[in-house]
Amino acid sequence: MRVLVTGGAGFIGTHTCLLLLEKGYDVVAIDSYINSNKKSLQRVIEILKSNKTTKDVSIKIFNIDIRDKKKLDELFLDAQNSGQPFKSVIHFAGLKSVKDSLSNPLLYWDANVKGTINLLNIMNKYKCKTIVFSSSATIYGLSDDEILSENIEIKPINPYGVTKAVIEKLLNDIFDSEPSCWRIANLRYFNPIGAHSSGMIGEAPIGVPSNIFPYITQVASGVLDKLTIYGNDWPTRDGSGIRDYIHVMDLAEGHISALKYLVKNNHQIINLNLGTGLGTSVLELVDIFERANKIKIPFEFSERRKGDSCKVIADNSLALSCLDWEPKRTLKEMCIDGWRWQSLNPNGY
Ligand code: UFG
Repeated sequence: MRVLVTGGAGFIGTHTCLLLLEKGYDVVAIDSYINSNKKSLQRVIEILKSNKTTKDVSIKIFNIDIRDKKKLDELFLDAQNSGQPFKSVIHFAGLKSVKDSLSNPLLYWDANVKGTINLLNIMNKYKCKTIVFSSSATIYGLSDDEILSENIEIKPINPYGVTKAVIEKLLNDIFDSEPSCWRIANLRYFNPIGAHSSGMIGEAPIGVPSNIFPYITQVASGVLDKLTIYGNDWPTRDGSGIRDYIHVMDLAEGHISALKYLVKNNHQIINLNLGTGLGTSVLELVDIFERANKIKIPFEFSERRKGDSCKVIADNSLALSCLDWEPKRTLKEMCIDGWRWQSLNPNGY
């Protein structure tokens, strides 16, 4: 089956493209390369070529920003004229920094919301009505619940989260307008970390990372001096914040399972939390990383970070029951795989 992957060169996009290709999908990936690197998908090809069973697999890659209506239209038209129209889209393209979204909300609305509106218009025009959307647990905002299920209130607290929530709303409206045509899955990610076990692809943030895991790996490799832990006075077992970390390969598998689920079931829109359901504190994560990789991570505590939650853990029961999926990789594997990627690629791609 032919799948269009938007934002295919990003962290989760590359891992998902790799898996799709391994599973025999015909993949067309597009990316603006604003926050990603052209080498990432080349690495995906290298991984596939190094394996006997996938060495002849091919992927088509285009430099397209989803805000560019003309190029998107040409892409869909070419696919249609070639007799292989797109039947489904996995939509990752978008900006994802909470901090940048606070200083530049217009850019976030433009890239994420306007870009998605363009994409949906073109999908509608070419009758491609199956979409797996890259949403985020950030849409739950500062919920009072510690274990978050899909039916709790959506109340994002930053422009990035607002754009994800607005896109979900738009997808709901589109579904309601033609319920017998659309198949839509909003995948709400918790905290994806780790990397493919080859060490060839991984997370490559531009500048100083704001997320904990790339920060830890950059401290481990000596790019950064020490980790700052935001708060030691949270009401948790050790005073540091608790999150639900999920291996990026488990997340990638979740996308393929969600796509399969949509294709084989009736038309619907479904919201699914993709997390492990397990909470890990910052201090526990540092400890597991240190023991798994035998590297010391120097750290200091600072004040709590503005806008942080104490605990964010997925209730993943809906995803476990609907999808043929469960997260399989341990935190130790996340730490080992993430460090393999960083140590082999200290400056990213
Ligand atoms: N943390 C530190 N030091 C750092 C960075 C983070 O102590 O340098 C702590 C945070 O306080 C938090 C935990 O590590 O307790 C995780 O923080 P991240 O920034 O890695 O992740 P968040 O949970 O804050 O946010 C992430 C993504 C968002 C996404 C959200 C979904 O960055 O894009 O998960 O819940 F929306």
